[in-house]
Amino acid sequence: MARKPWTAIVAGVAGLLVLTACGGGGGTGEGGGAITLGFAQVGAESGWRTANTKSIQESAKAAGIELKFSDAQQKQENQITAIRSYIQQKVKVIAFSPVVESGWDTVLKEAKTANIPVILTDRAVDSPDKTLYKTFLGSDFVAEGKKAGQWLTKEFGSAPGDVNIVELQGTTGSAPANDRKKGFADVISAEPKFKVVASQTGEFTRAKGKEVMEAFLKSQPKIDVLYAHNDDMALGAIEAIEAAGKVPGKDIKIVSVDGVRDALQALADGKINHVVECNPLLGPQLMDLVKKVAAGEQVPPRIETAETEFDQAAAKAALPQRQY
Ligand code: AHR
Repeated sequence: MARKPWTAIVAGVAGLLVLTACGGGGGTGEGGGAITLGFAQVGAESGWRTANTKSIQESAKAAGIELKFSDAQQKQENQITAIRSYIQQKVKVIAFSPVVESGWDTVLKEAKTANIPVILTDRAVDSPDKTLYKTFLGSDFVAEGKKAGQWLTKEFGSAPGDVNIVELQGTTGSAPANDRKKGFADVISAEPKFKVVASQTGEFTRAKGKEVMEAFLKSQPKIDVLYAHNDDMALGAIEAIEAAGKVPGKDIKIVSVDGVRDALQALADGKINHVVECNPLLGPQLMDLVKKVAAGEQVPPRIETAETEFDQAAAKAALPQRQY
């Protein structure tokens, strides 16, 4: 099939950008036409998200799936509008990465009534009705938080006295913020010397991570550790720590989640101490699932991505091949 250029269409909603792409052969629906996938993305808040979007767009093209893509700019109402527009357009499959966990039942019921299967990618919803979506593809965020906590307990296991931790949370109400907080707390709560002295959202962005870390540095007389729910916030916080005359990675140890290039570089440079991986390259698996659910095939209810962790040596080894 001939490749069409990306085409922007006005969605009629402020800040909502919808892109359509057609690509190579493979993803045919009923009647032989390309499968149409409506994908409602969270936004472009982080390096992880940029890599995730690229993976989805490239994989749709390679699979011959017609992709209608929207960027919700981290707003649930924009995602709901996009999903409703996909229902109206009668796409074959809807996939989305929910900005927050709650509040999806109404729109998911609308998709179900319209007989359009829904796939959750990256982030889950807290709906008790599991029939509202076909599957979830993504990470175990609780396990990621636990890994961060386990690194901390090893690093500070024999240290005398309290270990003061500041936490930069992800977007309030989002699955990764809720679960990474919980996983971390579950591990560190076993040892009373670990004290989370301040915890606030940095909205998964570099700018907000910097701003909140500046406030932490002013309000907290002693900070030993920063736990950032993603790399972008950690990278923003590093700027704040350096501006305050402290040495990131030494005066304040840093553990974060994702594994984007800039963070692995900071780890290689000794400015971050540990990174827990969260894999954004979900596109190929998502397109396989789209084809299966479009064909009415059964798929597993939950598919988790394989992930690792990085210390300084692992970061140095991974950097030359890191795609994002
Ligand atoms: O949902 C995945 C999280 O969202 C990533 O860890 C973060 O960087 C992104 O914004």
